Amino acid sequence: MSTATRGSRDNGTDPIFEDLRGAFIEQFGHERKPSVLARAPGRVNLIGGHTDYNDGFVLPTTVDRAVYVALRPRTDERVRLHSQNFGEEVEYALSKPHVSSLPQWAQYVAGVAEELRTKYGLDAGFEGVLFGNVPLGAGLSSSAALEVAAAEGLTRLFGIDLGAEEMALLCQRVEHTYVGVQCGVMDQMAVRFGRAGNALSLDCRTLEYEHVPLPLGEASIVIADSRVSRELAASKYNERRAECEEGVTFFQQFDDSIEALRDVSRELFEQHAGELGDTIRRRCRHVISENERVRRSADALKEEDLDACGTLMSTAHESLRGDYEVSIEKLDLLVETARATDGAYGARMTGAGFGGCVVCLVADAGVPVLQRRLTERYEEQFGRKPTLYVVEKNLEVTTRRADVPICEEERRSG
Ligand code: GLA
Repeated sequence: MSTATRGSRDNGTDPIFEDLRGAFIEQFGHERKPSVLARAPGRVNLIGGHTDYNDGFVLPTTVDRAVYVALRPRTDERVRLHSQNFGEEVEYALSKPHVSSLPQWAQYVAGVAEELRTKYGLDAGFEGVLFGNVPLGAGLSSSAALEVAAAEGLTRLFGIDLGAEEMALLCQRVEHTYVGVQCGVMDQMAVRFGRAGNALSLDCRTLEYEHVPLPLGEASIVIADSRVSRELAASKYNERRAECEEGVTFFQQFDDSIEALRDVSRELFEQHAGELGDTIRRRCRHVISENERVRRSADALKEEDLDACGTLMSTAHESLRGDYEVSIEKLDLLVETARATDGAYGARMTGAGFGGCVVCLVADAGVPVLQRRLTERYEEQFGRKPTLYVVEKNLEVTTRRADVPICEEERRSG
């Protein structure tokens, strides 16, 4: 499709839905119009790195890019999926998905279908075309967007009654069970509940959330993708989780009501930090301080204090780099360059780390200079350009995008 760089529009007129409808017919023939179209946006986490699986707090926002699915039920047990992005097609029997032998993009959809089949009675095959303009593997949650779009579409297609929170949890289970990443719940919650133009202030233990409007006014969110593939991310991610659990076990000896690092107060930490080994102490210090920063950032957003937000983002980066050790030189260079640019409020790496993106908060007037400097310095040092995205913040569109991910039913199809 020619839409690779087009963002989502409001529900009724998103041009990508039309393109996808056409692609579906092209793929499966004129008598096979899709009966459900769904989309789910990507997300960027403004602050709250590696806090979600510690039952902590995060502050993500959705981006102006999404993953789209067009689906139609079948009368047999076959599942046929076509990816516009990869130009690939897979076909399998619903009850024998052999998920791990499918290409990665299809694993997410097959994983969602398998959860719906085994737990919610999905009992017929389907065919679908998928397309996404959320950059892949860049830390903007293209995978969570694909899972949620598939779950949104399939539940609509088969009339399965699944609450939005249950859906986010189901999609998280897909990552755990079929993809092998023990991720927290932030991505799926952000994708399912996030609204453009707002940060989702989320408590990852209770799943309570609040939409906090982003007071962007004359400022923008700029994302710089390092384009470093995140091969290490999964193993290091699971290692960090284990280190946090060690920290929890240590603190439980002082207070057996502690279930996660979220329950360790700064006082308790400081009292006993000296008894911890260096690595676990730094991991705990990051999580405890990061939770504080998230809450202060949510307050700062409400007070429309972008200076405070930016400073907290930059401090968060230092903590992720020094204490949590999930940054790499390329991300550090992007963050330092952004921070040294006039008009920048702050910047930090975002996502799991070991590659992926940095997120910058910058005054609109500084955006062109920021883009130029990031590109030049990165190319000078590493011989390649980062990919840059300025998140679209048109308020009119934002408001109408408020209910993404959405489903549209093609009632005339037959
Ligand atoms: C990945 C995971 C999330 C979260 C972040 C780090 O994106 O999928 O659950 O843990 O890393 O904040």
